This record gives sequence, structure tokens and C-alpha cells, in this order.
Amino acid sequence: MTGDPDDLEDREVSATPVRSDGDLDAGLRPRSLADFIGQPRVCEQLELVLHGAKGRGGTPDHILLSGPPGLGKTSLAMIIASEMGAAIRVTSGPALERAGDLAAMLSNLVEGDVLFIDEIHRIARPAEEMLYLAMEDFRVDVVVGKGPGATSIPLDVAPFTLVGATTRSGSLTGPLRDRFGFTAHMEFYDPAELVRVLNRSAGILGMELRLDASEEIARRSRGTPRIANRLLRRVRDYAEVRGDGSITVDVARAALKVYDVDELGFDRLDRAVLDALIRAFGGGPVGVSTLAVAVGEEPATVEEVCEPFLVRAGMIARTPRGRVATAAAWHHLGLTPPAGAMNASFGARPRDIGGESLFDEL
Ligand SMILES: Nc1ncnc2c1ncn2[C@@H]1O[C@H](COP(=O)(O)OP(=O)(O)O)[C@@H](O)[C@H]1O
Ligand SMILES: [Mg+2]
Repeated sequence: MTGDPDDLEDREVSATPVRSDGDLDAGLRPRSLADFIGQPRVCEQLELVLHGAKGRGGTPDHILLSGPPGLGKTSLAMIIASEMGAAIRVTSGPALERAGDLAAMLSNLVEGDVLFIDEIHRIARPAEEMLYLAMEDFRVDVVVGKGPGATSIPLDVAPFTLVGATTRSGSLTGPLRDRFGFTAHMEFYDPAELVRVLNRSAGILGMELRLDASEEIARRSRGTPRIANRLLRRVRDYAEVRGDGSITVDVARAALKVYDVDELGFDRLDRAVLDALIRAFGGGPVGVSTLAVAVGEEPATVEEVCEPFLVRAGMIARTPRGRVATAAAWHHLGLTPPAGAMNASFGARPRDIGGESLFDEL
């Protein structure tokens, strides 16, 4: 795996570098659609796409998976391949710097293979242009030589399914987006779904997890299964080191306090962003890059990891003039909002954010 989007997120609870966490993450991945918790709409749509293709004995249309990190895009890509009984080849946008890198991958594909390109919005232009032809006509033009003597040799590519994952479908170019037959918009998970994720993971890890503890962790997981699993492991560490290993709600609370995860699931960076927005910029509006500089983070991290959840939690509103703190954000920091502060818009979904609602489902 490329690991890049995971790095983006590893700021969350990084206090204990437990080596085996990466392996555990892989072990906790759902393996089939039936095993995949939540996202009922996406699962239903995907099932139709896959079964339709299977019934016709063909390869499914190209599929784009879009949504914030940790919601299950990579897991779904692997599930798509396994549901089709196909092999999966994995690469990522940043790894495809030269068109030649992509040509090599494409020419090695076998009929029916799934090609998974993570972070597809970061693909370099020449590779992207090569991808258009491959997606549409299962063909690539490889340019040999330089200057006036250069020739382009057409090569056939075996019929394959491209699965692309992106945390910012708004940055995809129109031509690339148009070549996907189906776009799955992943939503944040609700606490009940995260309880199911946690219980499943606890089962796999052989842990005893009380329901109220599981609910407590779920509430603080930022709507994100990857974070739920990570908090679960941190709570387990705490329970084993400071207690007798059993995970009660009190143990869960105490552990989450150690890791700076507050009652709403905000971590240090979330709170830093809110704090800067309110204390340094008077509640906004302020641009996201200015905000990122103020908290010493990459704009991409603030925009793709922090902000979607803060918007969803009703703490930040995106306006044409920049980010604005809602009244709820002022209250969360224990401050009195100024008259006229925006009210929270609870329940905004990730697809409403960053222009993603411009895209069609099918
Ligand atoms: N629907 C789900 N059911 C159970 N676990 C999930 C689900 N989605 C994600 N996970 C867990 O979260 C982790 C991160 O998911 P991943 O597919 O890597 O997310 P993304 O690629 O969107 O960042 C997985 O390893 C898995 O343990
Ligand atoms: Mg991923």
C-alpha cells in the first residue's frame, strides 16, 4: 500500500508508536461487501454495478471513491477486486510522476484486473492524459524517442477496471471525472455504525469491550472507522498498563483524556484550528491556508482531514469569503459568541463540502 493518506492522519494519536499498528489496520479491514459496515447507499449502488458486470461476464465500469480519509476507500477497492474474483494492482497519484510509470503498469494488466490508484487527484498531467485513452479505449500511446524523430506506438491494454480514490474530488479535472462510470461518495459514519465497527474489531483482536465503552469511543471517533480502531487500540493499551485489561466506560474516558481526545472527538489539531479561527481571527472569515499557517500545519491536512469533520460537527462554516466559526465553536471553547455569529449547520455531509455536490452519482 502507498500509505500516504494514512500518514496524513497519523498526527491523531501518535504518542505511542506501536509497531504492529499498521498490520493490525490491515487485519481489521473488511473483506467483503457483507463485511463492510455502514455506507448503505454506496454498498447498494456498488453491488448493482458489480453484479451487473458479473452477469454480463464483463468488467465493471471505472469507479471513483470519494471522501475524507479513513472512511473505507482502500478497503472498498480491495473488496471490489475480491467480489469480482480479480487481482488488484495498487499505485497512487504521486507515484505516477511520469507517463512511462503508468504505461508499465497498464501494459502488465491482465483482463479483468482492478487497477487501484489512490489519491488520484495528485496524478501528474502526462500520466493523466495517458489514462484517458486507457480508460476509454483500453489503449495507450507510448512515445519513443525525442524531438522530431519521436514516434508514438499504440499498445493494447487488457480490459480492466480502474478504481480511483480521492479525498478531494473537487480537484479532479472534468475529463478524468467524466470517464468514471460510477462515483461513490463516502459519508461520515454515525455513532451506531461505529459501535458495530468497534465491536467487530474487538472481536478480531480478542478484546472484551463493554457496550457503554464502545459507545463512548464511537462518539469520539470523528465519524471515521480508522480513528475508531485507533482509539480502540489506545484504550486497550491504557486498560492493560493501568488496569486489569477490561475496558469499561471509565477506562475508555480516562484513556481518551490521556490522548487529548475531547468529548466531541476533537483532537489537538482540531482544537488548535478552532482556537486560531476564533482567537487570532475573531471568528473569521479567514482563508484555509492562513489558518493552516497559524496552526503550523499543511493546508492540505487542515482542508482534507480537519475541516470536513469540523464542518460536519457544525463548528465551521465555509463561506465564499473564507472559513467562519459558528456560535457552537465559540461555546465549545467556553467563549461567548459575538452577536450575529453563525448558527451551526449540523449534519452537513462530506459531499456538500468543497463543491463535491457538483458531481453526479452515476
Ligand atoms: N465499513 C467499514 N467497516 C469496518 N471497518 C472499516 C470500514 N471502513 C473502514 N474500516 C476500517 O478503517 C480502516 C481504514 O479504512 P481505509 O479503507 O484504509 O480508509 P481510506 O482508504 O478511506 O482512508 C480500515 O483498515 C478498517 O479497519
Ligand atoms: Mg486509503
